[in-house]
Amino acid sequence: MKNILVFATTNFGKEKEIRTILGKIENFELKFLNQFNEMKIEPPAEEGSSFEENSLIKSRYYSKFFSEHFVASEDSGLMVEFLNGAPGIYSARINSLKTDEEKVELILKMMNGVPINKRDAKFVCVVSLVNPFGEIEVFKGEIFGKISFEARGKNGFGYDPIFIPDGEFRTFAEMSEEEKNSISHRKKALLKLKEHLIWKR
Ligand code: IMP
Repeated sequence: MKNILVFATTNFGKEKEIRTILGKIENFELKFLNQFNEMKIEPPAEEGSSFEENSLIKSRYYSKFFSEHFVASEDSGLMVEFLNGAPGIYSARINSLKTDEEKVELILKMMNGVPINKRDAKFVCVVSLVNPFGEIEVFKGEIFGKISFEARGKNGFGYDPIFIPDGEFRTFAEMSEEEKNSISHRKKALLKLKEHLIWKR
């Protein structure tokens, strides 16, 4: 019988990438929260002070509803060196802004006039897993790059239009889905999860 891995995210941009990156995992069936809408589970408050804490808050919380399954969650965001690591864990809710466009505009405004050598940034992704025995594992991925001078590209989601990975001239949003997924913070963390599920489960 196949194990079920419930990936606890409601962010469609993330879900799409997670589905593609994880692909098929031997002996596992991958499901997402929106397949359990009838359970009407309220999301937990993300009150941690790090990506890891928030990721664990989510995976532990959702594992109570799916105690017989493997439950994974991820917390991720953009950290800009010039802004002392902001927006960081507040990436999704910076200044209570709603749309990705507003959030991108705000970062560009805060970086107005900052030269290229001071525009270093990174994306961080922390995936956590709770297995049916309540055991917990944490997997981390990072990608380093720079904040562009203007928003470019239509692909991806979130801050992709203003993030240029090191060694590239294009923003994440100018790359194809496959290109971003082959180098991203999410890919690095999820591959560690996949390896764990295949070998150490
Ligand atoms: P949370 O992990 O759901 O709290 O939200 C993470 C937020 O960070 C997203 O809503 C995006 O704004 C941003 N983010 C995380 N990963 C990416 C990415 O791969 N590209 C662009 N933005 C991202």
